[in-house]
Amino acid sequence: MSATSSAAVAVELAVSARQVRRTFGEREVLRGIDLQFGRGEFVALLGRSGSGKSTFLRALAGLDGGVEGEIRVPKRRSVVFQDPRLLPWASVLDNVVLGLSGRGVSGRSANDKGRAMLAEVGLDGHEQDWPKTLSGGEAQRAALARALVRSPQLLLLDEPFGALDALTRVRMHALVQQLHARYRPAVLLVTHDVDEAVLLADRVLVLTDGVISLDVTVDVSSPRLRSDPAFIALRSQLLAELGVDESAEGHHPSTTTTENTPITTTGALQ
Ligand SMILES: Nc1ncnc2c1ncn2[C@@H]1O[C@H](COP(=O)(O)OP(=O)(O)OP(=O)(O)O)[C@@H](O)[C@H]1O
Ligand SMILES: [Mg+2]
Repeated sequence: MSATSSAAVAVELAVSARQVRRTFGEREVLRGIDLQFGRGEFVALLGRSGSGKSTFLRALAGLDGGVEGEIRVPKRRSVVFQDPRLLPWASVLDNVVLGLSGRGVSGRSANDKGRAMLAEVGLDGHEQDWPKTLSGGEAQRAALARALVRSPQLLLLDEPFGALDALTRVRMHALVQQLHARYRPAVLLVTHDVDEAVLLADRVLVLTDGVISLDVTVDVSSPRLRSDPAFIALRSQLLAELGVDESAEGHHPSTTTTENTPITTTGALQ
């Protein structure tokens, strides 16, 4: 590769992490993570509970002052957590636009952007509602709208669908796919759900013992169907890497009802 083309590749990177370490007391949770991914790339991060996924996400978000190593991320970053974290005393619209005016967007234009984004996540008509009147799925869609209204170059999702019921989760998957296709932020999705990772991501990582122990490209043709042999093979590979015995965990991929309904492997990975 010529010098020029390597420079071009470097410019296209959204995230570059080198030898990222994080220690809490005696415990080294992240033990030298190296990871690069490009603009618009959708990366899923799997790992057992307590393996350090959220710690790594917080490091990329710039929320953790105690991290060692080199991290390069875009300036415009947004995070969505498992709980929507909406301010209870502000309307849904105010929650979404909060912080936009501090970024040089006038109040009126911020409100217009916020309304448009709420419409995109299917929450038009809820602008003036109080957060506590929203269902779990609606609140999480408001949190997504709040994240996306800032046009992030990097969207960090920490188990954003973990607390939702199966049907709402399927709808959220479709919404996230649609929004990703439209706005093309680089995404890091932390999840416990192997099928969710394979359905949504371009690439799946597994975090084990403080390092990335597996980094695979999702090579399953679209629309991704759980019945596709490539899907099944990748699921098995990921479950094995996570140390989950599919038969012992009662994981029966062939018994699921409809295509594209994710099987929640969450219980198996706790
Ligand atoms: N501020 C902190 N102080 C001390 N220990 C911490 C702190 N934050 C995280 N840890 C520890 O680091 C480890 C990794 O935590 P982390 O939240 O990153 O795991 P996780 O992979 O996101 O788990 P889960 O899937 O359950 O969300 C855990 O053992 C946790 O107790
Ligand atoms: Mg976590």
